[in-house]
Amino acid sequence: MTSRYHEVYESWKRDAESFWAQAAADIDWSRPWDKVFDADAGVYGRWFAGAECNTAHNCLDRHVAAGRGDQAALIYDSPVTGAKQTYTYSELTDAVATLAAVLRKHGVEKGDRVIVYMPMIPEAAIGMLACARIGAIHSVVFGGFAARELATRIDDSTPKLILSASCGIEPGRIVKYKPLLDEAIDLSAHKPSACIVHQREMETADLIAGRDFDWADETAAASAAGDRADCVPVAATDPLYILYTSGTTGQPKGVVRDTGGHMVALKWTMDAVYDVRPGEVFWAASDVGWVVGHSYIVYAPLLHGCATVLFEGKPVGTPDAGTFWRVIAEHDVAALFTAPTAFRAIKKEDPDGSLIGKYDLSSLRTLFLAGERADPDTIQWAERMLNVPVIDHWWQTETGWPIAANPVGLGSLPVKYGSPTVPMPGYDMAILDEAQAPVAAGEMGAICIKLPLPPGCFPTLWQNDERFRDSYLAEFPGYYSTSDAGYRDEDGYLYIMARTDDIINVAGHRLSTGGMEEVLASHPDVAECAVIGIADQMKGQVPAGFVVLKSGVGRSIEEVEREIVLLVREKIGPVAAFKIVVTVGRLPKTRSGKILRKTMRSIADGETYTVPATIDDPAILDEISLALSERGVAKAG
Ligand code: COA
Ligand code: AMP
Repeated sequence: MTSRYHEVYESWKRDAESFWAQAAADIDWSRPWDKVFDADAGVYGRWFAGAECNTAHNCLDRHVAAGRGDQAALIYDSPVTGAKQTYTYSELTDAVATLAAVLRKHGVEKGDRVIVYMPMIPEAAIGMLACARIGAIHSVVFGGFAARELATRIDDSTPKLILSASCGIEPGRIVKYKPLLDEAIDLSAHKPSACIVHQREMETADLIAGRDFDWADETAAASAAGDRADCVPVAATDPLYILYTSGTTGQPKGVVRDTGGHMVALKWTMDAVYDVRPGEVFWAASDVGWVVGHSYIVYAPLLHGCATVLFEGKPVGTPDAGTFWRVIAEHDVAALFTAPTAFRAIKKEDPDGSLIGKYDLSSLRTLFLAGERADPDTIQWAERMLNVPVIDHWWQTETGWPIAANPVGLGSLPVKYGSPTVPMPGYDMAILDEAQAPVAAGEMGAICIKLPLPPGCFPTLWQNDERFRDSYLAEFPGYYSTSDAGYRDEDGYLYIMARTDDIINVAGHRLSTGGMEEVLASHPDVAECAVIGIADQMKGQVPAGFVVLKSGVGRSIEEVEREIVLLVREKIGPVAAFKIVVTVGRLPKTRSGKILRKTMRSIADGETYTVPATIDDPAILDEISLALSERGVAKAG
């Protein structure tokens, strides 16, 4: 089939407002918009100004009303516990309305914030949808973060209530959530008035009388009393959620997602990008703590009337590298979405795909990869093994849906390995040089999006328009800067090559090296430090810390290095995967004192590099090289 992409993209370019108004017809609105786009509202304008709607209604009630009540809505599959459970649309609606009534009883109202600190269990999605139902703003915090990270998010979003669980399960260990939650509340200046804790059978959390409540008791009481909360209409421009993401400092950025534009954009992608139909099974193997989990585990599949798989496990080791294939076969998954790192992990364990043959994968039509650069090797391996199209697509927490993709639903374009293909309607791309001028095709530059951003993208940062402007809009006036660098080829295909800030991408998780440096610098024996992301075969990148110790440290270097590793785990969390510390005598710097992180990374990755002309003392580069090879970290150049 010839692709309709160019025609559709052009139709958006000709008349963006008509394009999105047409897409918006797929959503139920309780009040229509005054303007499709109000250029005078917000920082750069707002979508569907004046309209009212409710996300839970569009994800749940409307499907029940349309006769999908008995269809699967959420399939929980947990190889780490052996549990499997399917909620129909009716059951999920009832569970959400009941929890929403419990939230109400605890004083949560429209506009209040609720933190969701949960493992990958159905209650996490139920919690998010319950907030949406009553117009409360959820903020999900990933379970792999430490208490301090949670505390930062509590202080920034000032939640009235926190939804949590007694534990998460990582292969080989139980992660007790409650002690982390208690510590975070101790650390934070803001105190939520209540916590509702889901007790899992493998761990019972101690509840603090008067503050903590048992999830099952609360919902059972609401159920018995027939308490259900109805959907509350909210403004299309009201926030649905805040999702914190790594910024250039230890202070994460509170990405705000609005209500109306978010639904319109996500619903549009389910047909045009993902090519799935209502009633089919969609599986995003990610975590609700990340944007992929928000958009494509919870909201988009449900908006579209699909069944979504909520998977509590890993691609390998739970129990083996065939888990993904089992889940696809067992639940008739039509589209799988995951990070390339998951496939690299599977490929490492089962390079010949010997486990694939055990399962009937005939339901699978497409594999989507995002979260980090998809290396051609991994894409080609997946294509060979699964015999389905493998689609790399590029997006960010900030955008909430793909900026660039190969839109399968509009008809696939030819694949070019290493490129997530072309911009989606809504995204007018520009590759700019430092002087803000467009560069020629094939030339690297800063990848920017001409304002306004399309529906679904963030309108601002939580209560911080100024940081929003400074971080994203200031450098290239009139544009949103993605902080990704790359190029566009003659055919308009985009290539996303590197971040222009301090963000690294570890196993599809976005982390700030600046945040890690703050932790390293807080160690009493550290005089100076630098953290860089170095290439890793499985995780894409891993962080490596370089430290210069103060003189007169009365202990072994190894002991200090171990402490530093532990400190990052304690302050940021295990998800940082921070395991490499290299003690050096001095750090390479420019004559003005700027640490040469990029050169250090080239050395660690075994790439050829030119010695920067501004370097203070080139001999330090050899010292770094030597320290890395003594550690066995450096790759052969
Ligand atoms: N709660 C607590 N700890 C968590 C956690 C959670 N929700 N998620 C991860 N961690 C811990 C892990 O246990 C691990 O701890 P360890 O240092 O004690 O081993 C650490 O954080 C790093 O985790 P992870 O990045 O998952 O690495 P891994 O080595 O355990 O697994 C992969 C590697 C490739 C299997 C894994 O990263 C993966 O499944 N990636 C898929 C990518 C993905 O989901 N990306 C999201 C965006 S699409
Ligand atoms: P996150 O906000 O966690 O989704 O991370 C977004 C960042 O991940 C982007 O800015 C990119 O640096 C990187 N990224 C995501 N998807 C891709 C992709 N398909 N190709 C290259 N980089 C990607």
